[in-house]
Amino acid sequence: MSDHAPPSAPDLFDAAKATRLLAHAPYSGFKVGAAIRSESGRIHAGCNVENAAYPQGQCAEATAIGLMVASGDRRITELVVVGGEAGSGLICTPCGGCRQRIREFAGPDTPIHIYDAGGYRQSFTLGELLPFSFGPDNLGF
Ligand code: THU
Repeated sequence: MSDHAPPSAPDLFDAAKATRLLAHAPYSGFKVGAAIRSESGRIHAGCNVENAAYPQGQCAEATAIGLMVASGDRRITELVVVGGEAGSGLICTPCGGCRQRIREFAGPDTPIHIYDAGGYRQSFTLGELLPFSFGPDNLGF
């Protein structure tokens, strides 16, 4: 999916972009927003939440997943991540831990769209970001 045209998920981008501005990121200075569309059609947007005890910090994707679960939904149908300044040359793909967190509630074809502060950058499927993953099915769920 990497070379796909910009996705038609402007509502997810708007939600992630706005929530990114609320990030608590005083240590890295790197604000991230993530917005999930879940099986009900609702949007769950989260930001990163850092901590003075650095390892206790939480990624934006983890915040969004927690909000989705707390709303009663269990399936990610589409995900947008917004991180980094416009034209930085790098894209803010989910970290390894978050790829596994996403895997719990998504499948290999789930689209993940990456934006920076300036707009759309690139799209992936979860399967591209986390091939041969270990998931609930491995445990018979
Ligand atoms: N971060 C996220 O929230 N999501 C990502 O996809 C990559 C990194 C956060 C973690 C930390 O607060 C900051 O960005 C710098 O690593």
